[in-house]
Amino acid sequence: MALSFLSHCLIGLCALSLFAWAEKECRYLPGDSGWPSIDDWSGLNDTVQGRLIATIPQASVCNSLPYGNYNSTACAELRASWTEAETYVTRPAEMMNPYYQNQSCDPFVTEKPCELGNYAVYSVNVTGQEDVLAAIRFAKEKNVRLVIKSTGHDYNGKSTGKGALSLWMHSLKTLQIIQAYESDTYSGPAVKIGPGIIAGEAYEALANVGYRIVGGECASVALAGGYTSGGGHSMLNTAYGMAADGALEWEIVTAQGEYLVATPQENADLYWALSGGGGGTYGVVLSMTTKIHPDGFISSGALQFTLAGAPNESSFWEAVRLFFEQMPSLVSDRNSLQLEIENNTFDVFGITLPDQNISAVQPLVAPYLEELTRLNISYTFTTNFSATYLDYFASIMGPLPYGPYPPTEIWNNRLVPRSVVLNSTANNLLIDAFKLAVADGTFLVGCNGINVADNEQRKHPDNAVFPAWRDAIASCSLTAFWDFDAALEVNLAVKETLVSVYTPAIEAATPGSGVYLNEIDPWYEGDWKQEMYGVNYHRLLDIKHKYDPDSLFYGHFAVGSDEFTVDGSGRLCKI
Ligand SMILES: Cc1cc2nc3c(=O)[nH]c(=O)nc-3n(C[C@H](O)[C@H](O)[C@H](O)COP(=O)(O)OP(=O)(O)OC[C@H]3O[C@@H](n4cnc5c(N)ncnc54)[C@H](O)[C@@H]3O)c2cc1C
Ligand SMILES: *[C@@H]1O[C@H](CO)[C@@H](O)[C@H](O)[C@H]1NC(C)=O
Ligand SMILES: *[C@@H]1O[C@H](CO)[C@@H](O)[C@H](O)[C@H]1NC(C)=O
Ligand SMILES: *[C@@H]1O[C@H](CO)[C@@H](O)[C@H](O)[C@H]1NC(C)=O
Ligand SMILES: *[C@@H]1O[C@H](CO)[C@@H](O)[C@H](O)[C@H]1NC(C)=O
Ligand SMILES: *[C@@H]1O[C@H](CO)[C@@H](O)[C@H](O)[C@H]1NC(C)=O
Ligand SMILES: *[C@@H]1O[C@H](CO)[C@@H](O)[C@H](O)[C@H]1NC(C)=O
Ligand SMILES: *[C@@H]1O[C@H](CO)[C@@H](O)[C@H](O)[C@H]1NC(C)=O
Ligand SMILES: *[C@@H]1O[C@H](CO)[C@@H](O)[C@H](O)[C@H]1NC(C)=O
Ligand SMILES: *[C@@H]1O[C@H](CO)[C@@H](O)[C@H](O)[C@H]1NC(C)=O
Ligand SMILES: *[C@@H]1O[C@H](CO)[C@@H](O)[C@H](O)[C@H]1NC(C)=O
Repeated sequence: MALSFLSHCLIGLCALSLFAWAEKECRYLPGDSGWPSIDDWSGLNDTVQGRLIATIPQASVCNSLPYGNYNSTACAELRASWTEAETYVTRPAEMMNPYYQNQSCDPFVTEKPCELGNYAVYSVNVTGQEDVLAAIRFAKEKNVRLVIKSTGHDYNGKSTGKGALSLWMHSLKTLQIIQAYESDTYSGPAVKIGPGIIAGEAYEALANVGYRIVGGECASVALAGGYTSGGGHSMLNTAYGMAADGALEWEIVTAQGEYLVATPQENADLYWALSGGGGGTYGVVLSMTTKIHPDGFISSGALQFTLAGAPNESSFWEAVRLFFEQMPSLVSDRNSLQLEIENNTFDVFGITLPDQNISAVQPLVAPYLEELTRLNISYTFTTNFSATYLDYFASIMGPLPYGPYPPTEIWNNRLVPRSVVLNSTANNLLIDAFKLAVADGTFLVGCNGINVADNEQRKHPDNAVFPAWRDAIASCSLTAFWDFDAALEVNLAVKETLVSVYTPAIEAATPGSGVYLNEIDPWYEGDWKQEMYGVNYHRLLDIKHKYDPDSLFYGHFAVGSDEFTVDGSGRLCKI
C-alpha cells in the first residue's frame, strides 16, 4: 500500500491516489460515489441466480413514504407481532434489538418516512457455498460492508449493518442425523445442522428419533449461528456442558473465500475459535456437526413465593439470599434451573432434572423448603414429569418452534461465580445488587443456574468458551421491556440506568467474573475484551487475523472490533 502510494506520487497522481486510499479505509454507503452501480448489483444477482433481495423494511406497510405500500391492516398485524421472534427470523435484514431498529422504519412511529437506517441494503438468500463465495468476492471488490444473519437475535447489532450486504442464512435448513459419528475424540450420535435451523425445530426433529440436544431456552435462536459460537446456555448445560462443548465440526467459508472443515484435528485453530469465540468473526458457517444425546424423561420442579406471602420485606430477601446460597447443591449432578426475581416475586420456574424420577425432585429442594417454613414464608411448590425433553421444553417454554420470548428487551448479563454464593458476605452483596436493580419495577433479574465445570463424567474439549463459565453457578441478566409507545429517549434512559447504575453494582458484587458475550447491551461499559473473552482474547485475535486478514467481518464487541470505528454517519471505517 505505502509503496504504491509513493510511486503514484512520483508520477503526479498523488492527490487522486491519496483520496482513493483514504476513502478505501471506510466501507461505502449508498450515495457515495464508490457505491456499486445498479448494474453491479444486478451482476451479483445473476451470480447468485436471482437470490439477491433489495431490502424493503417490513414496517414500510406503516408508512406511506417512500415505498408507497402503506396498508393499515398489514400495519396493525405487524404491530401486534412486533415483539414476536418469528417476525424477524423469517424475513431478510430484519433485526430484533429496537436500539438498532432505531425507529428508522417503525410500525409505531408512522409520521416519518421509512428509511433503511441500520438495515442491510441487500441480502443474499443463501442456499449454499457458491452464494457465500459470490457475496464475499463482491463485498471485497466493491468495498461494501458484509454481515451475516441467521435469525437477527444479536443484541449488539452484529447481524445487521448500515450500508451492508447481508448473507441471510435462514434458508439453510439442513438437518442430518448421524447415528454413529466417529472421530479421535468422540464416538456416538451427532447431528449436522445448517444455520437456518432454530432450536425449536431441532428439538422437534430430534425428539422424533429419540435424541435431545443442548439448545437455548429461547427456541428461536439458530444453533449453528451466533448461539453455539458464543457459548450457548441451556437447561441441559449441567448434564452436557455448554453448547460449544458439544461442537464436533464446523463447515465454513472464510473471508479469503476458502471452504474449510474445522475439527479438533483439521484446522484446529479455527475449530477452537468457532466453538465459543463469538459469531460473525472468523468466517461464514454453513453447518455445524454437534453431539446429540439419547432422550429420556425429565422430572422438574417449580417454586414461587411473593412478598405478600412473607412476614416482611427483609424475610423475603433473606429467602432469596438463601436460595442462591443453596444453588450449588440444587444444580449439582445433572440439574439446572431457571428463575426470575421481581420486586415482589421470586419464581423458580424450571428446576430441571434430566433422566431422574419425579420422586427425586422433592428431596432435592426439601432443605430449601425447610428454610421457607422457618421464615414463615408461604410458597407453592409443584413437581412434574415429562416423557421427553421436547415435552418438558414445550410445557414451560412453548409453543414451539418459536417460543414465547419477546426478543425486544433491554438486557445485560453477568456470570455469577460459585465462590460468591458460597461466601455469605459476598452473597449478601449480590442479593443487595439484585434488590436495587428490581426495586422500581422496571427491571427483573433472570438467572440460569448451571454448572459446566469439568467433572468425572465430562471434560470440556479445548475451545474458546470464556473460562468464567466454568466457575459460574449462574448466568444472570437484568431485563426490561422496550416500550414501543414511549419516546426513544425514554427507552434510552432505561438503558443508561442499566449500564451505569445497576450493572456496575452487580459487577462490584462479582469481581473477577465476566459477562456472556451473547447477552450484553451495546452500551456495556466494562472492559469488554477481558470480560467477554478473558485469557482467550489474544489467541482469538491471532486466529481472526489469520483467516480474515483484510478484516471483512466486523461486529460490535467482536474480536478485533477495535480495529474499526463507526463514524457519525454510521460508516464503518478501518483504523
Ligand atoms: C430473546 C432472546 C433469547 C435468547 N435466549 C438465549 C438462550 O436461551 N441461550 C443462549 O445461550 N443465548 C440466548 N440468546 C442469545 C443468543 O444466543 C444470541 O443472540 C445469538 O447470537 C443468536 O444467534 P443467531 O445466529 O440466532 O442470531 P443472529 O443475530 O443471526 O447472529 C448472531 C451473531 O452470529 C453471527 N452469525 C449468525 N449466523 C452465522 C453464520 N452462519 N456464520 C457465521 N456467523 C454467524 C452473526 O453475524 C452475529 O454476529 C437469546 C437472545 C435473545 C434476543
Ligand atoms: C434478482 O433477480 C430476481 C429474479 O430475476 C428478481 O426477482 C429480483 O428482484 C432481483 N433482485 C434485485 C435486487 O434486483
Ligand atoms: C393489506 O394487508 C392485508 C393483510 O396483510 C392483506 O390481506 C391485503 O391484501 C392488503 N391490501 C393490499 C391492497 O395490498
Ligand atoms: C439512530 O439514529 C440517529 C440519527 O437519526 C443516529 O444519530 C444514531 O447514531 C442512531 N443510533 C444507532 C444505534 O444506530
Ligand atoms: C429464499 O430462498 C428459498 C430457497 O430457495 C425460497 O424458498 C424462499 O422463498 C426465498 N425467500 C425469499 C424471501 O426470497
Ligand atoms: C420480619 O419478620 C420476621 C418474622 O416474623 C421477624 O423475625 C423480623 O424481626 C421482621 N423483620 C423486620 C425488619 O420487621
Ligand atoms: C425410576 O423409578 C423406577 C421405578 O421405581 C426405577 O426402576 C428406576 O431405576 C428409577 N430411575 C432413576 C433414574 O432413578
Ligand atoms: C406466620 O405467618 C402467619 C400469617 O401468614 C401468622 O399468622 C403466624 O403467626 C406466623 N407464624 C410465626 C411463627 O411467625
Ligand atoms: C407437566 O408435564 C406435562 C408433560 O410435559 C405437560 O403436558 C404439562 O403441561 C405439565 N404441567 C405443568 C403444570 O407444567
Ligand atoms: C468473602 O467475600 C467478601 C466480600 O466480597 C470478601 O471480602 C472476603 O474476602 C471473602 N472471603 C473469602 C474467604 O473469600
Ligand atoms: C414494584 O414495582 C412496582 C412498579 O412496577 C411498584 O409500583 C411497586 O411499588 C414496587 N414494589 C416494591 C415492593 O418496591
